[in-house]
Amino acid sequence: MAFTIAIDGPAAAGKGTISRAVAAHFGFAHLDTGLLYRAVGRRMLEGVPPIAAAQTLTAQDLGGSGLRAPEVSQAASRVAAIPEVRAALVDFQRAFARRDGGAVLDGRDIGTVICPEADAKLFVTASPEVRARRRFDELCATGVTTDYARVLEETRERDDRDATRADAPLRAAPDAVVIDTSALDVEAAVAAAIAAVETRSGRA
Ligand code: DC
Repeated sequence: MAFTIAIDGPAAAGKGTISRAVAAHFGFAHLDTGLLYRAVGRRMLEGVPPIAAAQTLTAQDLGGSGLRAPEVSQAASRVAAIPEVRAALVDFQRAFARRDGGAVLDGRDIGTVICPEADAKLFVTASPEVRARRRFDELCATGVTTDYARVLEETRERDDRDATRADAPLRAAPDAVVIDTSALDVEAAVAAAIAAVETRSGRA
């Protein structure tokens, strides 16, 4: 049976960690939809027009370590503002959401546009400063040289672009449960997410 959990929110709010943990807890498949936009962004940086890149995306494009690089993050946010790019990625995401055995999709517009009928919706957020600090620590851990002020500026830039674009802007669905992870550790955030899904699904 299909059961869809939509998890949206801004960059580095803890969506990825929470989504993986929620998927593991319920035994569901997980799709990080940001990877689709990152893969299109990376191909754009290689010279491929973004709409063509989105229309011809393959599973192979979703691999590789370069997808998390800061320049790919910015490129992803830019291609994500192009309606034809978003349109080209809809069917794949909806098919994933309907798969048997349950699915967790995380992104920016899952609860609002891709799966408005999702069985449970979460909106995971945190202050820009906390998110920039997490991203900075992550980048340092992977050997990328940068500074906190720059990461904070990039976080704000990307938030702004994601929230103000005309097509599918980042916002919480009216029926989403909002989880602010600013003052939560990973365990507490994951527990809050699982509890919210259980309440929504009537499993509690
Ligand atoms: O979650 P992320 O940082 O990997 O996402 C990369 C970019 O892709 C982000 O700037 C916004 C965009 N995105 C989107 O517009 N819609 C989604 N469902 C997922 C990501």
